[in-house]
Amino acid sequence: MIRTIFKWFLMVLSSLLLIVAILLHFGVIKFYREFQPFEIIADMDNQIKSLPQKESNFFVDSASFRNPVENTIPKIGSKYHLIDLEYEEAENENKNPLEPTEKVLARGKNRFETFCVPCHNHDGKGNGVIITKVKLKEGEEGFPAPANLTREFTRTISDARIFHILSAGQNLMFPVNYKLNETDRWALVHYIRKLQKDSNIKK
Ligand code: HEC
Repeated sequence: MIRTIFKWFLMVLSSLLLIVAILLHFGVIKFYREFQPFEIIADMDNQIKSLPQKESNFFVDSASFRNPVENTIPKIGSKYHLIDLEYEEAENENKNPLEPTEKVLARGKNRFETFCVPCHNHDGKGNGVIITKVKLKEGEEGFPAPANLTREFTRTISDARIFHILSAGQNLMFPVNYKLNETDRWALVHYIRKLQKDSNIKK
């Protein structure tokens, strides 16, 4: 009697194991992972919010990164009165109010490391992670190479012009005036000059 029960038990157990193996094979684990986390009480973990680098299904143009609303002044950053092609006005009107003191350079470095290195890299030479780390799918075009900030052109243009590029943009370089205030942008100009000087030093 016990032997028969044991035999049945073994048969049921091995059938179960076989079923589990088949289910695993057909991707149950994949399915389970895809729907993770399986939460009973989710509290506020999963909210409808914009995630960096992700499409938004709330806005019609699917961009989750929004431009400031027209005619509003951002709390951080500041409005800039010129448009990108108004170089001459920029030369005449923009005057760097800051001296490149240690404090100013530290501020410029901080802002540069926060907002610019993904494209321009730590040394400003344009080989940031956007170029080196982004894995492209077949047929996908990568991001166009960000300018080398230590190149001749950027060395020879004035502080006023660099400030202008940061404030009004230049081609693919987007304006950063809405997230960095004037002091930050002038500090960045000094920091870019420092990167240019450093790149002369042979290591
Ligand atoms: C998403 C990538 C990206 C980020 C982030 C970025 N840049 Fe740029 N930047 C570019 C590209 C691309 C160009 C070249 C634009 C062009 O063709 O005129 C450029 C050009 C520039 C130029 C003009 C230099 C030249 O020689 O023409 C300056 C100055 C500059 N960036 C400064 C900055 C600073 C300062 C930051 C951070 C606040 C920053 N950039 C963040 C992509 C980026």
